[in-house]
Amino acid sequence: MFQKIRVQLATLNAVVFLVMLITCGIGLYVYIEHRLLDRVDDGLREIAAIPMQPLLHPGGRPLDRPAVTIIYDKQGDVLNQTDVQFGESDLETLRDLQISDVPQTLHLDNHYYRVLTAPVTQYQFPQNTPFFSGLPQTGMAGQPVQKVQNTVQVVRNIDAEQDVLETLLVVTVLVIVVGGGLIVGAGFFLAGRALVPIRQAWERQQQFVADASHELRTPLAVVQSHSELMLRHPDETIQEQSRNVAVVLKETKRMTKLVSDLLTLARTDSNQALLELRPFRLDEVVRDVAEDYTLMAELQEIELQTNIEDELEMIGDANRIRQLLLILLDNALKYTPEGGRIRLTCRNAGGGMIELIVADTGIGIAPDDVARIFDRFYRGDKARTRAEGGSGLGLSIAEWIAEAHHGKIRAESTLHQGTTLTVLLPKDKKE
Ligand SMILES: Nc1ncnc2c1ncn2[C@@H]1O[C@H](COP(=O)(O)OP(=O)(O)OP(=O)(O)O)[C@@H](O)[C@H]1O
Ligand SMILES: [Mg+2]
Repeated sequence: MFQKIRVQLATLNAVVFLVMLITCGIGLYVYIEHRLLDRVDDGLREIAAIPMQPLLHPGGRPLDRPAVTIIYDKQGDVLNQTDVQFGESDLETLRDLQISDVPQTLHLDNHYYRVLTAPVTQYQFPQNTPFFSGLPQTGMAGQPVQKVQNTVQVVRNIDAEQDVLETLLVVTVLVIVVGGGLIVGAGFFLAGRALVPIRQAWERQQQFVADASHELRTPLAVVQSHSELMLRHPDETIQEQSRNVAVVLKETKRMTKLVSDLLTLARTDSNQALLELRPFRLDEVVRDVAEDYTLMAELQEIELQTNIEDELEMIGDANRIRQLLLILLDNALKYTPEGGRIRLTCRNAGGGMIELIVADTGIGIAPDDVARIFDRFYRGDKARTRAEGGSGLGLSIAEWIAEAHHGKIRAESTLHQGTTLTVLLPKDKKE
């Protein structure tokens, strides 16, 4: 699946960049062609305006390069041509060009020429002698001067310009081909790099779904088997079947908790689990929870000691912080045997931080496992935690709650001696 996406991304990237490269190449070529030929064309127009004086600009400055000027009469016969002259076969081709404002490019005998063909008004003396433009209306002897409409053709060699354009074309094509190859390669490589985190997230999500289904399978199987057992004896009373009913209820409760935990984590993954931030007294929340747990601890013959400072106000989501505390106390109670002790501390830690510590004298965690207890579905002793109803999601949720408040959670533990979980929370989330 990812290979296909990688190819699609790389192709899309290559197409976009190639289109840009080709557009830029064509743009550059056309621009330079215009710049070069515009200069030539301006020169041709200047000469066409005053034909037969091709060696000088109107201001008297010498021309950059000589041009050939040819004047045809209405029948297409050459009336006049500058010193440098075209032969009869070339004149045949030139004669065919139509009058136009825009000069044309002509390829004659391996040479390139730019040709402007324009109308010109000339004055003809009765004696039929030299042609000038802009002469007075009468001849030297007072004879009327005739106005004649002729055609002027100014031709200039543009081999140098064409050379530059051909080199430019070769370079542009080369840049497009080499650049195109590099773009395809780079696109493929970058698409691969960009997909790495997506692939990891996808694999994590796949794992999450697989673990979740696996976790749900066991309680579902238990519910099914006990329900079937009850169905085998339809005449028995609920009291007689109370063992099976109790198991079904226990597993249902377990599934409800599991589904609710899964939902919380799924929401944190898609950033939908938002906090409702409000100022609240953390010490009051902690005291409240501790009170509920004192009785439960007593029932398990565990001593719950508290050390809660007064007036600890913070900005955060009180319900989520309560949930975090419940997860930690629940673990401490679950993993501390009878006669053990749990110490709950809540105090100012300085620097605008509050410290929440749950320390127990329970079974502890093996040194290699301490780093993994915040992983989803991680359970130290699977058989034991399953019996306790745990699925290994509690601390993942606790870690998310701490981090969502810009806080931190860490665990220290010594096997068979006890575990301490410390949560550091900023009083103001923005700090
Ligand atoms: N106070 C503790 N003492 C010893 N081991 C602990 C303690 N807290 C957590 N652990 C270990 O870390 C594991 C993960 O804890 P976590 O709270 O995430 O899951 P759980 O308690 O197994 O299940 P649940 O999802 O019901 O909380 C536990 O299975 C246990 O092995
Ligand atoms: Mg737990």
